[in-house]
Amino acid sequence: MDQALWDELKRIAETRPQITALFDKDASRAQDFSISYDGMLFDYSKTQITKDTRDFLVSLAEAADVPGKRNAMFSGEHINETEDRAVLHTLLRNLSERTPNGVSEAAHKGVREGVAAMETFADAVRTGTFKGQGGQITDVVNIGIGGSDLGPKMGTLALAPFHDGPRLHYVSNVDGADISDCLKGLDPKTTLVIVASKTFTTIETMTNARSAFEWMTGQVDDPASQFAAVSTAEDKTAAFGISPDRVFGFEDWVGGRYSMWGPIGLAMMIAIGAEHFRAFLDGGAAMDRHFQNAPLGQNMPVMLALVGLWHNQGCGHASRAVLPYDDRLSRLPAYLQQLEMESNGKSVAIDGSDLTVHSGPVVWGEPGTNGQHAFYQLIHQGTRVIPCEFLVAAKGHEEGLTHHHELLVANCLAQSEALMVGRSFKEAQQLMEAKGFEGAERDRQARHRVFPGNRPSTTLAYSQLGPRELGMIIALYEHRVFVEGVILGINSFDQWGVELGKELANALTPILRGDASDASKDGSTRMLLAKLKEG
Ligand code: F6P
Repeated sequence: MDQALWDELKRIAETRPQITALFDKDASRAQDFSISYDGMLFDYSKTQITKDTRDFLVSLAEAADVPGKRNAMFSGEHINETEDRAVLHTLLRNLSERTPNGVSEAAHKGVREGVAAMETFADAVRTGTFKGQGGQITDVVNIGIGGSDLGPKMGTLALAPFHDGPRLHYVSNVDGADISDCLKGLDPKTTLVIVASKTFTTIETMTNARSAFEWMTGQVDDPASQFAAVSTAEDKTAAFGISPDRVFGFEDWVGGRYSMWGPIGLAMMIAIGAEHFRAFLDGGAAMDRHFQNAPLGQNMPVMLALVGLWHNQGCGHASRAVLPYDDRLSRLPAYLQQLEMESNGKSVAIDGSDLTVHSGPVVWGEPGTNGQHAFYQLIHQGTRVIPCEFLVAAKGHEEGLTHHHELLVANCLAQSEALMVGRSFKEAQQLMEAKGFEGAERDRQARHRVFPGNRPSTTLAYSQLGPRELGMIIALYEHRVFVEGVILGINSFDQWGVELGKELANALTPILRGDASDASKDGSTRMLLAKLKEG
């Protein structure tokens, strides 16, 4: 994008106003700076964005041709240029009869058939038609990492009230502690292992899969019969010995971190059942329609992206906290870390030139209220501003515990209010006076109790966290990341930055085993190798 536009964004940000002053001037600010769609309310009024700023931000989206790029994505153009692939995860949640323009009917039919095959298998596992050697499956272990773990794991946790299938376990880390702790206490004769890997080459996943196979060997006559696989590499799943009727394939146009909608979501489907999984897909499809049709300024993913760009590239706030006041979304920050940081953590634009602005922000977070008793101190009084993204439901699922939910909601709203309003020195002085402090000591004590305020946040509010709402939330964030990437001019769908570490780890493993020399390594690495080999 034209450098002058980025410069203008920064110039506007230099004179950004007090958020409270914006509310004072405009009685309908909350309504004007929020978007409602299908039961979801996105409130970005507690930011320093004015009407003029919003117009400018929308003009950035127009200048970057977000609508054109969006259509290119939905119609299957190869927008993942460095890998020469289409980006069609949206097709995975499109179970309508209408094939999107530009997409082959065969691909769309394949998606519907894929869902049907998943459902047949998930039902068989849930009802006991598919059995282990010891009878009905009691436990399912999903072995995968990154996008083949974070999505289904986050979703299974989020939808715990709908979990009526066998127990679910997720193993991702190559650290033997992960699989060992997981398998302890499981009965190999009633355990199903799903090996989830797009490539079926990821070292962590394949190492864990082989260890799980060994764990079953000797306990189960035919361990492979209690394995299923999810992958694009059917030759490799066959080489592993998994029968094709338990292999759920997908196409290379589904990126790992965008893959929970399809076969990678199999474990989640086994947990919650096909009907709830369809509701999840339906929620994602509803957000797709909104993203495709709503004008840019009233488009939730677009505005979420523009708020993000305003804070990061405009105001220079390098990190973003995601704070779900919804304990079952405790893995959402980790999920969004991959989604945002693997997609938009890049320094090179799609044409190979260097980015002239910062790439995506650092994303982190924890559920509220837990975070309040840990890192909110820094969010409220630290020297750096951290824009916060709150998520909260009107209702919980725990009928007898509505008083818990009231406290939860009150805390969520209190935090965004405190961030915005703050507490002045004068108010802090009065507080200290009321406690009996006077003079210089009153002022010294008061200074510690000042909250600068004027700290931005957004809130996403919804009725209750169910499969459909989860689908809407995940699709919302996916499109947000896409829009940010388009405006930054980068390819959000490759991840070359993960490769070098993998290559070096492959070279270090034989050195650790004593099968290769460390001579080519730097002094620090040699010293650490020596220490770690010594035990
Ligand atoms: O190393 C990064 C990555 O390629 C992610 O993009 C992906 O989600 C993860 O590894 C797992 O890959 P796979 O599903 O092929 O095992």
